[in-house]
Amino acid sequence: MQNQRLRIALQKSGKLSEGCFELLNKCSFKLRSSKNHYLIQSKELNTSFYLIRDDDIPGFVDSDASDIGIVGENGYFEYILENPNHNLEVITKLGFAHCRLSIAVPEEGTIKSINDLHGKTIATSYPESLRDFLAKHNVEAKILVMHGSVELAPKIAIADAICDLVSTGATLKENALVELEVIFESEAVLIANKNVDTEIRSRIDELVFRLQSVIDARDSKYIMLHIDKAQISKLQEILPGCESPTVLHLHGNDEKVAVHVVCKEGIFWDTITKLKSIGASSILVLPIEKMMA
Ligand code: PRP
Ligand code: ZN
Repeated sequence: MQNQRLRIALQKSGKLSEGCFELLNKCSFKLRSSKNHYLIQSKELNTSFYLIRDDDIPGFVDSDASDIGIVGENGYFEYILENPNHNLEVITKLGFAHCRLSIAVPEEGTIKSINDLHGKTIATSYPESLRDFLAKHNVEAKILVMHGSVELAPKIAIADAICDLVSTGATLKENALVELEVIFESEAVLIANKNVDTEIRSRIDELVFRLQSVIDARDSKYIMLHIDKAQISKLQEILPGCESPTVLHLHGNDEKVAVHVVCKEGIFWDTITKLKSIGASSILVLPIEKMMA
């Protein structure tokens, strides 16, 4: 019986939300974002989606306003540092929204190492993560909290450095800033309230199974090719993660066989070139939609 709704908090709009919608829609949800829409009810797994600001997601899940949520690890760390008695747990990493929390300084400035930050002012939207990092490195600096547009601070001389998320690095470049130190790497994670009841827990497990099937399939490819029987061991060296390929007889051909295999890592053009160099032919590389263990 699925009486209770599974409540999921997602970012309404922004860098995270795009990846969330894409991933969940591959798990059979039919989510569409629209401007003033904050609640989506889905029959799939009997779920309610709350579309909120990403900063609010950890607090929503912690206070049991929502059972689970998708956030950047950076937002999760910031929250648990500020709320050491939280009820949150990370269920799984989701493999998108990769970025890093870094300290950056003006290109032409005098700050060249962490020690040079002594007595300086650092602007950030992640004060707890920054405080924690500075304490671990015995650096005393002033923290200026801003909720966005942090890169502006050194330019208008209200801070000497910034601590912000970097993904492509374009924003730093545009603002003549360079990375001094990476504090941590981050990606989207699924978080849950530790105290959910068994019914909700089993629904979360089902959702995680679906998410994992899509995530595993995303980087995998199904490869089909023809090759000399004698070359199969070489083939296994070339194709990553191809331990036990399916080998099929080719009608009217005793030397060659057809090989079908799932590769869990990226297949690139140089892989194809290597396959051809050992005599592989009729090579097909197919995407995989879902992969169930
Ligand atoms: C984020 C982050 C950086 C930028 C990094 O800002 O705070 O400013 O993206 O991305 P990049 O390395 O690919 O340039 P966001 O767009 O979320 O705006 P905000 O910080 O003003 O909220
Ligand atoms: Zn920003």
